[in-house]
Amino acid sequence: MRRLALYPGSFDPITNGHIDIVRRSLLVFDQVLVAVACNMRKVPTFTADERVEMIRETFAEEGDRVLVDTFQGLLVDYARQKQIRTVLRGLRAVSDFEFEFQMASMNRRLTDEVDYIFMMTSEEYFYVSSSLVREVALNGGDVTGLVPDAIKTRLDARVQPR
Ligand code: PNS
Repeated sequence: MRRLALYPGSFDPITNGHIDIVRRSLLVFDQVLVAVACNMRKVPTFTADERVEMIRETFAEEGDRVLVDTFQGLLVDYARQKQIRTVLRGLRAVSDFEFEFQMASMNRRLTDEVDYIFMMTSEEYFYVSSSLVREVALNGGDVTGLVPDAIKTRLDARVQPR
């Protein structure tokens, strides 16, 4: 039986923290489906297609062990549709726990067909988030080492430093 994990998120853009989670999850799972959420609360910096493209480029060497897709609506409905029962999320600090606990509890209320697995992000990426990376880039800061070079180039082109 193939062990599949669903790794959902906004990925606006994918960071080295996310990449670390995917790479380490491949030691535990046979295949990871990275699912880019389309219905975000905020207007994203990158379109869903751009976010998918960046993730595909990032994991080109992993072949079909890393699949990338978009989803709309409830995560649990998407997981059921894909017949994946394990949702993977990264935990950076204690502060992440509260939000993750709320989401996982709500999703458990919606279905018992999906369960969560949390992986701790590597120490070097504890403070890295897409929103902070965007903010630093937006204000002309250097995000080298926080995202792959190709994504840094896209970010620099997208955001106009003040
Ligand atoms: O990268 P993010 O922004 O932390 O990811 C959050 C995400 C996309 C995983 C979460 O908002 C989500 O699952 N959205 C889909 C809508 C949904 O199912 N909402 C109910 C969750 S309690």
